[in-house]
Amino acid sequence: METKYWVVDKTVENPGAYPQLAEAAQLLKEKQTVAFPTETVYGLGADATSDEAVDKIFKAKGRPSDNPLIVHIAEEKQLEELAEEIPETAKVLMKAFWPGPLTLVVKVKKGALSKKVTAGLDTVGIRMPRHPVALALIRLAGLPIAAPSANRSGKPSPTLARHVREDLAGKIAGIVDGGETGVGVESTVLDVTAEVPVILRPGGVTKEQLEERIGKVRLDPGLKGTGAGTRPKAPGMKYTHYAPDAPVYLVDGSTAFMQRMIDAHREKGEVTGAIVTEETSGIVRADVVAVCGRRASLETVAHHLYDTLRSFDAQKVDVIFSEIFPREGIGRAIMNRLEKAAGHRYVKEEDVQ
Ligand code: TXA
Ligand code: MG
Repeated sequence: METKYWVVDKTVENPGAYPQLAEAAQLLKEKQTVAFPTETVYGLGADATSDEAVDKIFKAKGRPSDNPLIVHIAEEKQLEELAEEIPETAKVLMKAFWPGPLTLVVKVKKGALSKKVTAGLDTVGIRMPRHPVALALIRLAGLPIAAPSANRSGKPSPTLARHVREDLAGKIAGIVDGGETGVGVESTVLDVTAEVPVILRPGGVTKEQLEERIGKVRLDPGLKGTGAGTRPKAPGMKYTHYAPDAPVYLVDGSTAFMQRMIDAHREKGEVTGAIVTEETSGIVRADVVAVCGRRASLETVAHHLYDTLRSFDAQKVDVIFSEIFPREGIGRAIMNRLEKAAGHRYVKEEDVQ
């Protein structure tokens, strides 16, 4: 399949002035798949009401069919057409964070969406993205748009149109290139059907920000680590994700300890990679050193995380060591993604001494 490619200005004040967007929207109406930028990561969109269209998303990504998709809307009235009921907490959160990186899991209205979107669940995750290109495209298509991240299943999510092209060129109908995405990690998925809302996936809106508006919010126990027989409630959270080709180890210890780990592998003749911050980039030595942002500003780490993880695949490293981050604010989403990229492998200074 030929994949069309359109470049648009990410500010798109007047979508009518972009014939490229009209063409992309037309393809969506014709049940084709189109990748587009959001404020979190690029999404792979298709008509959420059509089995045929949604099926193409699963095929292109190689995504397991039991993993439901997030539905993207551009107006709040679309929510009423899709949700069976809208809890009070959801209304408060929509007011505070929409458009923005918050997905609300609500009871789905029967027959409103393709069953493939919800993977047979009686709930659906819905969000209104903040990116002007995404909003313009959804409005022009006039449809609820199902859109998972636009990567091959298992790979880091795309934060640049180039990432989408690397993973999906030839498999999808089009890519709208609106430049770099903003937040860099996906939306927070929040189940508001429970008495106390539950974070199923930490993301762009932090637990602290949510609690400021609605009080106590729980973290899905399945997020708190491996073992204990807990299963994450967001079906997608059980799969390996975000992984570079080489194994990743998370370093729980000092910079000197990280250097000793790297040196031990270099002495065995391995090509080593390191994920560091600006604060340590002048100190850590490895064959490939990638700076993922500033420790003093974790938003910068979130913003660069996936591009950093992807960058190692082109360099053919054998092993990657990464710094870790405090599990608070956006750090919770960063650590969730890093742990998945690393398959929860840690090296701990206290264990090695
Ligand atoms: O930022 C984002 O949310 C991006 C952009 C493109 O909007 N989209 C995204 O979609 O990350 P995806 O499909 O890669 O991740 C959706 C996550 C998965 O972990 C899935 O299991 C969970 O949301 N999810 C979707 N619907 C759900 C439901 N009804 N109940 C529980 N979890 C759900
Ligand atoms: Mg994804």
